[in-house]
Amino acid sequence: MASVSPDDTNPDVYEERFNNIVYSGVIALGVGLGHRVGLFKALTYLPEPETSQSIAEHAGLNERYVREWLFSMAAAKIVFVTDDNKYYIPADCKTKTSKSLYATMMPAIAPLTKDVEKCLRSKDPSSADKIRTVLDIGCGVGKLTASIANYFPDAKVVGIDVDSYAIETAIKLKEDKHLTNVEFYLLGAEYLTEEWEKSFDWIIMFRVFHDLPNPDPCLRESIRVMKDDGVMTVLDNLGHSNPKLNVGNKPLAATLMVSCYMCLPCSLSAPPAAGNGIGWGLENRAAYIRENGLIIHDNELVECIHCSKATL
Ligand SMILES: C[S@@+](CC[C@H](N)C(=O)[O-])C[C@H]1O[C@@H](n2cnc3c(N)ncnc32)[C@H](O)[C@@H]1O
Repeated sequence: MASVSPDDTNPDVYEERFNNIVYSGVIALGVGLGHRVGLFKALTYLPEPETSQSIAEHAGLNERYVREWLFSMAAAKIVFVTDDNKYYIPADCKTKTSKSLYATMMPAIAPLTKDVEKCLRSKDPSSADKIRTVLDIGCGVGKLTASIANYFPDAKVVGIDVDSYAIETAIKLKEDKHLTNVEFYLLGAEYLTEEWEKSFDWIIMFRVFHDLPNPDPCLRESIRVMKDDGVMTVLDNLGHSNPKLNVGNKPLAATLMVSCYMCLPCSLSAPPAAGNGIGWGLENRAAYIRENGLIIHDNELVECIHCSKATL
């Protein structure tokens, strides 16, 4: 067990250690940022000390920001600077930066601070503790369903899909992983089992909704099997419903082209052929969900939204 020396509780030593941790934490955020945008890769690759301009060009980044970042790293003695203002990591130290990849987690998790803050302030038991039953509609080969079953070992998790190959693969995955709290069924969302009435705490529909040729009965049935205080999470990789708002969004342009080949044909494949696809867009999806009586929580113009029957 780590021991505490009398010095550790000395107020001056305590203050120094405390401040050191705080400063190091902020600098670690910069280390994570540097890894994410390729600055450590550039500094490792470049054989000689280089100017901020040349490092920025090498990494394809904005020089002014790179210079500010280099100033911070130089002050922290992570990067060194020559008399003619060129920056470098000593050759023998370059490989020693790899462990700091852990710091990439910091910028990645920082946006979650508000959520964690909410959890800290909430006196309720964690929502995870309340989840006992989960339905994954359009579960495909069951990877996400299996992860959820693993994450909520006390919950009963069900995955359904209309594709027999997907369900056979999902059942094999369940067996391989020895999961006892998940079941997979070959079943369409239009006709959910009668006995499931109001029985699911959490219903998820990942990358399914915009593919459906007949979303009305699917949503109606999902609402029927959701508990009154249950939550439905819907994820679709959609852009805006108004094409003018998507101008310049290249990843979306690619996704919309994939939709021409996959999602749209799927949503036109059977009567009444809703024909939604990716072009359906976030605004139309939100309006459709609201028209069907669900309340959407937080921002509705994002790919992943949470809905419920009543205000939770
Ligand atoms: C793009 S895949 C998504 C699979 C999985 N949810 C994921 O995120 O990896 C869409 C899935 O929805 C299924 N699907 C389509 N229509 C369905 C329906 N009416 N009922 C249940 N599943 C359906 C398809 O067979 C397919 O496996």
